[in-house]
Amino acid sequence: MEEVVIMRVFVTGASGWIGSAVVPELLAAGHGVVGLARSDASAEALAKAGAEVVRGTLDDLGTLRDAAAASEGVLHLAFKHDVAFSGGFAEAAGADRAAVEAMAGALAGTGRPFVLASGLLGLTRGRVGTERDFPERSGSPMHGRVETARRVVDLAETGVRTSVLRLPPTVHGAGDYGFIAAYVAASRAAGRAGFVGDARWPAVHRSDAARLFVLALENAPAGSVLHAVQDEGVPFREIAEAVGKGLDLPVAELSQEEADAAYTWLGPIIATDSAASSDLTRALLSWEPTGPGLLDDLASGCYFG
Ligand SMILES: NC(=O)c1ccc[n+]([C@@H]2O[C@H](COP(=O)([O-])OP(=O)(O)OC[C@H]3O[C@@H](n4cnc5c(N)ncnc54)[C@H](OP(=O)(O)O)[C@@H]3O)[C@@H](O)[C@H]2O)c1
Repeated sequence: MEEVVIMRVFVTGASGWIGSAVVPELLAAGHGVVGLARSDASAEALAKAGAEVVRGTLDDLGTLRDAAAASEGVLHLAFKHDVAFSGGFAEAAGADRAAVEAMAGALAGTGRPFVLASGLLGLTRGRVGTERDFPERSGSPMHGRVETARRVVDLAETGVRTSVLRLPPTVHGAGDYGFIAAYVAASRAAGRAGFVGDARWPAVHRSDAARLFVLALENAPAGSVLHAVQDEGVPFREIAEAVGKGLDLPVAELSQEEADAAYTWLGPIIATDSAASSDLTRALLSWEPTGPGLLDDLASGCYFG
């Protein structure tokens, strides 16, 4: 077994859905955590979890640079979702890119790890994507994040042990307020649970994703791409059926126009076929997901309280 080096880790997004599961994993593994907090509430939550706090936002590039330079590794999970999902995706992606350049730049030549949280949505529509795939270039504002992920892979050449950890569109579990929670709320409002065609979504439980972030920090080779995937591709039809059952609503196949009307910004997302595997990641880092699958979590009722 490889010996694990104990690190003082700077974590952005440490107060978020995934970050708040990553922090206890890091602490349990013996690492120290310094979390970025942009509000009093986030600072309090981080201190309560046992982390040191650096106050600042993703736009405070000097703060990010200093905190990264003072660390022995960086996990970057913050993203301006509030800006991105109110029409400002390109702006959020631009701020993310600047933050990445600042933090990874501070680590140049050190060999220290920098792990970027990224996404799998739409990786290879129509076939199961692997860690070796990158989405084709497109004019979509969402593509800005793909370009940042490519850049992080390339930054391995600057002497940073970079890795890109791609997350499925649902990192699920009790307390989730992400896409599945939004889908449940919109289905309730629409009076039916809709799906579009044969779209499939990969999925992972939050606890397994959190464990993979720690393994990536500790052991991922420079320039690696990792997939936090447990379920390779759950047919969205089955997600709709589980939600229909949980809410006692009918299930309906929708045209894209009907989905956009019922689910607004989520309409194109639920229609995006995104199946992906994690065989290479499992072999590389001895990561074996153990949490409940997405359909098990939906059947447990935790999304319908
Ligand atoms: N959850 C998923 O299913 C999923 C799927 C694919 C990819 N991802 C990616 O995984 C990462 C973590 O996602 P998540 O679900 O944990 O997100 P989340 O719950 O929305 O948390 C976002 C984190 O970013 C922080 N943040 C947002 N804007 C900021 C700003 N301007 N300055 C400083 N911090 C800011 C938030 O701080 P506050 O606590 O103060 O708000 C929070 O800690 C993100 O990159 C996300 O896009 C998530």
